[in-house]
Amino acid sequence: MDKILVTGGLGFIGSHTVVELQNEGYEVVIIDDLSNSSIKVLDGITSITGKKPIFEKLDLKEKSKVEDFFKKHSDIKGVIHFAASKAVGESVKEPLLYYENNISTLVYILKELKKLPEASFIFSSSCTVYGQADELPITENAPIKQAESPYGNTKQMGEEIIRDTCKVTQNLKAIALRYFNPVGAHESAKIGELPIGVPQNLVPFITQTAIGLREQLSIFGDDYPTPDGTCIRDYIHVVDLAKAHVVAFKRLLENNNKSNFETFNLGTGKGSSVLEVVHSFERVSGEKLNYEIVGRREGDIISAYADTTKANNELGWKSQLSLDDAMRSAWKWEQVVRG
Ligand SMILES: NC(=O)c1ccc[n+]([C@@H]2O[C@H](COP(=O)([O-])OP(=O)(O)OC[C@H]3O[C@@H](n4cnc5c(N)ncnc54)[C@H](O)[C@@H]3O)[C@@H](O)[C@H]2O)c1
Repeated sequence: MDKILVTGGLGFIGSHTVVELQNEGYEVVIIDDLSNSSIKVLDGITSITGKKPIFEKLDLKEKSKVEDFFKKHSDIKGVIHFAASKAVGESVKEPLLYYENNISTLVYILKELKKLPEASFIFSSSCTVYGQADELPITENAPIKQAESPYGNTKQMGEEIIRDTCKVTQNLKAIALRYFNPVGAHESAKIGELPIGVPQNLVPFITQTAIGLREQLSIFGDDYPTPDGTCIRDYIHVVDLAKAHVVAFKRLLENNNKSNFETFNLGTGKGSSVLEVVHSFERVSGEKLNYEIVGRREGDIISAYADTTKANNELGWKSQLSLDDAMRSAWKWEQVVRG
């Protein structure tokens, strides 16, 4: 049973990944400082898998604590590093907070991994590195565009830091997974997305509006050059995304990687417009959503969806669940949380 550290393992994507790792027999140790999650998530994971992961409440910005952790868990085979701050708008207002939390934590972990005889590392990157891509669907070879926010920049810089480190560290193997738009919740409704404050993402905003927490959903612009005029994204079910982490980690453990730093897009390959997401929600929930079309929002990309050929062929991974599945699970989760 290989032991693996999951940082940010009580967060949205981390918690779903811990479930899939435990289902595959890995021994999971979670580090989280609970800055954007709740300790209750640990119970949710335990209830789904029947096994409580080891948990250490620790702020990864505290270098000496990170060093102590690795001394205590020297048998760790690798790390899936989710822990980061992720609110794009906040990152514009508080850039140093983002550079400190997203970059220093990465550096401290890599420094510890360098000391191990062999280590595997998975990094949570984002399709934000592509900006408004010139060609759709977006392949991994699309040019990296100038980041539009400090948050986006931490993902670009993060990838560069890992690439540079891997170049000179033969015992380190890494994969950066570029997520498109993770949505949905575990089908058990025992874990899901728990935004603190006003949701920054479309799907929690939809479910919170439907349950009465928000008055209305604003759709920013319906005059874009897309079939229905609203922006297009690639919404991927969080459980599919979680499973991709297990596959990617196994690839490194079994030395099936082609180089010691690789990147993969994780999406469905299909773009859905904001209105299509709203209609999917209405269809699966039977609720009528209160929404209004308002003016365009500055900085919004018109359309982004993944070319998933590389992940399909190289990782042997493909998303299985539909947008309707995601909306159904997100709605069930919202009802449990507010119930
Ligand atoms: N959700 C998305 O839409 C999306 C898209 C692309 C990439 N990502 C990236 O995926 C990762 C996970 O995203 P998520 O949606 O699960 O976010 P999340 O906020 O739900 O989870 C992140 C977790 O990390 C923890 N954390 C943050 N800073 C920490 C620190 N210094 N020490 C210890 N723990 C810390 C938080 O408490 C939280 O539980 C992030 O790196 C994010 O940037 C997310």
